[in-house]
Amino acid sequence: MNIAVYPGSFDPITNGHLDIIERASKTFDQVIVGILVNPDKKGLFSIEERERLIERVIKHIPNARVESFSGLLVNFMKERDIKVIIKGLRAVSDFEYEFQMALMNKKLNPNIETLFMMTDAKYSFLSSSSVKQVAMFGGSINGLVPDEIIEDVMYRMHNK
Ligand code: PNS
Repeated sequence: MNIAVYPGSFDPITNGHLDIIERASKTFDQVIVGILVNPDKKGLFSIEERERLIERVIKHIPNARVESFSGLLVNFMKERDIKVIIKGLRAVSDFEYEFQMALMNKKLNPNIETLFMMTDAKYSFLSSSSVKQVAMFGGSINGLVPDEIIEDVMYRMHNK
């Protein structure tokens, strides 16, 4: 089976992320959305909450599921026999960081390939941090995150 992992922080998942998951699920038998557990970084949502939010918005994609991992991505992949990492590229500015990570992962495990998908142009400006800023200062996040989670983000932003 051809399995890919789509790793990230997803704090919270955006429409840009969802677009990549939907497209990757058409190319791979299974897509695992891998949430990085980063003990040094307190997010807006806990890992369990992020998992639940993602589960809610990927319900319509039968071959996508969500898991969380800590430590090295390559170890998570090895345990599950996953060989492909999917990443979204929004702009040239993403490239340097992503290139560095792809090469490091390749160094750690030469059997792993990182495949990049171009983010849909309409989401090229979108990131979880910009969503948080807009929500924090009272702007509308309609169209930026999936409709099903708008209320959760707005509520959490104003009731931390
Ligand atoms: O959404 P993000 O924060 O850009 O995602 C970054 C992520 C989770 C893909 C990356 O930080 C990662 O894979 N972290 C796990 C640690 C690891 O494997 N590092 C080695 C590659 S530099």
